Amino acid sequence: MFNLPRGTRDFTPEEMEKRRYVEHHMASTIKSFGYREIQTPTFETLELFTAKSGDAIIDELYSFKDKGGRDLALRPELTAPVMRFYVEKLQMEPKPLKLFYFGNCFRYDRPQKGRYREFQQMGCELIGTSTTEALAELIALAYYAIKNTGLKNIDIRIGNLDFLNQQFKTCLSEYYPAGANEVFRLIDKEDFNELHNQFDNYGIPEEKQKKFLGFLGSNNINDLKKYIQVKDLKRYEEIISILKNDYGISKIKIEMKIARGLDYYKGLVFEIDAPILGAEKQLCGGGEYDLVEQFGGTDVSTSGFALGFDRTILALETENYTFPSYDIEVYIIPVNETTIRKSIEIAKNLRKEGILTDMDLLRRGIGKSLKYANSKNAKKVIIIGPEELEKNSVVVKDMKSGEQEIIKISNLINKLKNN
Ligand code: HAM
Repeated sequence: MFNLPRGTRDFTPEEMEKRRYVEHHMASTIKSFGYREIQTPTFETLELFTAKSGDAIIDELYSFKDKGGRDLALRPELTAPVMRFYVEKLQMEPKPLKLFYFGNCFRYDRPQKGRYREFQQMGCELIGTSTTEALAELIALAYYAIKNTGLKNIDIRIGNLDFLNQQFKTCLSEYYPAGANEVFRLIDKEDFNELHNQFDNYGIPEEKQKKFLGFLGSNNINDLKKYIQVKDLKRYEEIISILKNDYGISKIKIEMKIARGLDYYKGLVFEIDAPILGAEKQLCGGGEYDLVEQFGGTDVSTSGFALGFDRTILALETENYTFPSYDIEVYIIPVNETTIRKSIEIAKNLRKEGILTDMDLLRRGIGKSLKYANSKNAKKVIIIGPEELEKNSVVVKDMKSGEQEIIKISNLINKLKNN
């Protein structure tokens, strides 16, 4: 007996049906906004991920040397790979360029419910514009991509890393010569106790602590005006206004505590939660970022988001969402060996018509076959016996009502389709 590697999962047919269903709905919404799908490899050069984040990120990665001695890593996310692809091959494409992807990611995380070492993301990257309507559309898309799966309760939180950096500079930078990373990491982890401790240990004056923490607690534009100049707030305010008034999305919170864990973000950032999930409630994260120039490309505005696909499914299940069932429509039972070939022919013709058809392959007789068909929730069973076949007919049994009818084979498809 072998065990699954820690933090990975197998999916049963029922689970896969749910996953494909949700994938279809998410992708349809994303395509309806003009995004087109791309794919990149599952592993990349390690350097792609350390370039911006430094070697510290290696602890969170599945990295390895291949037989040629090259340093590689399983992708922990897809923004860096997509930007590598863009710089290599897509820079000349007309702008804005709207790309989306669906793929597995690998992180050496501590596994728990909603947090895995292999998980899937569906994400979008918008290249070549940073107008207020572009950013508002991006956030609206993330919202609708989740909403249209059928999930009821989600919240959007919108932050701004330029504001956060500004406040860090005015209140804290002289006490943190190594930069903002340490503070942002604690904010990202929501470890405010540790942040307070650090402030005290570093001897940060009371009024500077108060100002920084006051800024972090701001949750409306008026509050923010105490810390950020009106001219700097204008863009942020307008994006929120478009989302609320033009897209009609009301569940938006202003939140300055969004630091985002990845190191490439700047400017506007946002997260979407499903509160019903508790600890691992974040379904989506994104914002504006810089990677293209660092990867050797020509500077261009970039923004995007990724949806945690696994958590979206978990949230739907927790809300008791009714997923469609994929039961067999027709189950064919050859009564004995003489009718097997005719049964195959009928099954073939029904499948050609798009009717989900299965057939007894165990020669186990009517009683046991009916039991099996019942366990698979088959809607109809077709019993094919020699006597009926002589009259070019078969018996069709409705599994719900139990009623049986003799139907001419020539009329079978018509009958099944209209019932
Ligand atoms: P991220 O916030 O690290 O952003 O991940 C996006 C989403 O992936 C999270 O909100 C969460 O739902 C899901 N996720 C992350 N880690 C795990 C895990 N261990 N198990 C299950 N789900 C997980 C990014 O990855 C950025 N690349 C998003 C982005 C795209 N920003 C700009 N463009």
